[in-house]
Amino acid sequence: MAAASSGKGVSGSRHSPKRAAFKPIKARGKAPDNTINLLLGIQEKRGWLSAKEMSRMCREKGIPGVDVYGVATFYSQFKLAKRGKYLVSLCRGTACHVKGSGRLLEFIQNYLCIKPGETTSDGRFTLQAVNCVGACAKAPNIMVDSVVYGIMDEQKLRKLLEGLR
Ligand code: FES
Repeated sequence: MAAASSGKGVSGSRHSPKRAAFKPIKARGKAPDNTINLLLGIQEKRGWLSAKEMSRMCREKGIPGVDVYGVATFYSQFKLAKRGKYLVSLCRGTACHVKGSGRLLEFIQNYLCIKPGETTSDGRFTLQAVNCVGACAKAPNIMVDSVVYGIMDEQKLRKLLEGLR
C-alpha cells in the first residue's frame, strides 16, 4: 500500500511543505510584493533608500523594520547609500574584460579617485562595476546612467567624464 500513501496526499494537499514555507509571511498580513513596490517608489523619488525613509515607511505602513531591511538588502537594485549625480557603470563582463575593461577601470579609479561602490566627494559621480550591459559587440562598454558608450578607450573616457564635470 505504499502507492496509496505516496506523494499524492502531500503534493495535492493545501498544506504542502512548499506552501507552509510562505505561511508565516501571509499570517502577518504583509505582502512582500508591496514592500518591494513601496521601496522602489522611495528610491525613484530620492535616488536611494535612507534609514530615515525606511523607518518612516515602516511606521506608516505597519511593516516590521526587519522585513523592510531584509528586502532592501536582498535585492541588488536597491541603493542603501546616496548616489552621485551620475552613475558610471563599468562593464566587467567577459567580452569587455577581453577588450580591456581592466585598463578602463584602473583609469577611471585614478581619474575620479574612487573605487567601485564609492561616490566622489563632490557628489558628482558614483562608480560601479557591472557584469554585462548587453552590448558585447561594442565592448568595452561604459554606461552613464542609462546611456551606453561603446568601444571605449582611456581618451574617450576622459573626454566623456570631463564633459560631465
Ligand atoms: S560583457 Fe560588456 S557588454 Fe557584454
